[in-house]
Amino acid sequence: IEKKKAVNKEYFEIMKEAQIFFRENIEKYDEALEYMKERDFSLDEINKFGIGFASSSRDELFRYLLKKDFPEQKIMELGLVKRNENGEIYDSFRNRIIFPIYNADAQIVGFGGRIIEKNTNLPKYLNSPDSPIFKKGNELFGIKYRGENIRKKGFAMLMEGYLDVLTAQKNGFENAVASLGTAFTEEQGELLKRYTDKVLISYDNDEAGKNAIVKAGYILKKYDFDVKCLVMDGSEKDPDEFLRKNGKRAFIEVVKKSEEIFDFLTKEVSKDLDLNNINGEKKFIERLKPFFSNITNNLSKNLYLQRLSVNFGINDFVLEESLKNISGETSQRKKR
Ligand code: UTP
Ligand code: MN
Ligand code: MN
Ligand code: MN
Ligand code: MN
Repeated sequence: IEKKKAVNKEYFEIMKEAQIFFRENIEKYDEALEYMKERDFSLDEINKFGIGFASSSRDELFRYLLKKDFPEQKIMELGLVKRNENGEIYDSFRNRIIFPIYNADAQIVGFGGRIIEKNTNLPKYLNSPDSPIFKKGNELFGIKYRGENIRKKGFAMLMEGYLDVLTAQKNGFENAVASLGTAFTEEQGELLKRYTDKVLISYDNDEAGKNAIVKAGYILKKYDFDVKCLVMDGSEKDPDEFLRKNGKRAFIEVVKKSEEIFDFLTKEVSKDLDLNNINGEKKFIERLKPFFSNITNNLSKNLYLQRLSVNFGINDFVLEESLKNISGETSQRKKR
């Protein structure tokens, strides 16, 4: 273990140096500052979050890190550089705003890079690949030291993107975190559970976001979170856009109106169904099965069943038969 610690220490040092490089870089490039200004970030805010820039230079970062005597092999394992077909090594992040990803011990474990060019086929975001110190599905972007930001507020706001989190945090919603462009994982559920048992899912206001709410809801219920979700009825795509357009007062109102996950879910899965029709009802109950099979807390399960019965006029006995005794793979595994 001691040896592993020593090995990891150098990876962390490399990431820290890389961030220093990106950070110092951003002030040298007008186009980077201009881009962040368009997104309403002042220089103070850029510095506060450690935001940086990777220019279009071929291997400036690589040379910078070699000069600091870090081994090529480790720089490569961290995904900071890549080798092309001719064997030449070049920087992975180019022409991108760089967001450092901190773990819960305040160490930099990865970076996210947003392209600043407007018309390009390159992916909008590039993230550090998994490495000896980074497993994407195990981290949450925006967690501060030992989750102090979440503990203080008493709940977490789970968002989709880097800029949702940073815009939220600078507007006083310091408990915002994001799952880094992947679907929310069980490991991330476990991580959050260390700091709170309440989550407000604040995903994008589109079909993809809605589907993702449902899936994240299942996982959060497995860990027995109290789950709500944000409902933005307007045309704003995501929390970042909402906050920039309408300000924090308006966002607080939206937060106040957030919906219990079960109400969201029942609405969502019954959209295309006629619940006055037996077939519709059958499908409806069928679609609720994954939710109930993920609930690990029995009292919650009973309360949800009761709510379903009251709100939709479905007989208790019917629900008990069909939904009460189903249990998911994981909940069974947990019981053993
Ligand atoms: P979105 O596609 O919602 O980002 O992806 P966005 O809100 O439009 O981005 P901006 O506001 O234009 O900058 C949400 C998140 O998914 C991940 C990133 O973490 C992003 O913040 N993502 C998205 C990727 O990893 N790669 C991509 O190509 C796109
Ligand atoms: Mn999106
Ligand atoms: Mn999008
Ligand atoms: Mn978005
Ligand atoms: Mn956005």
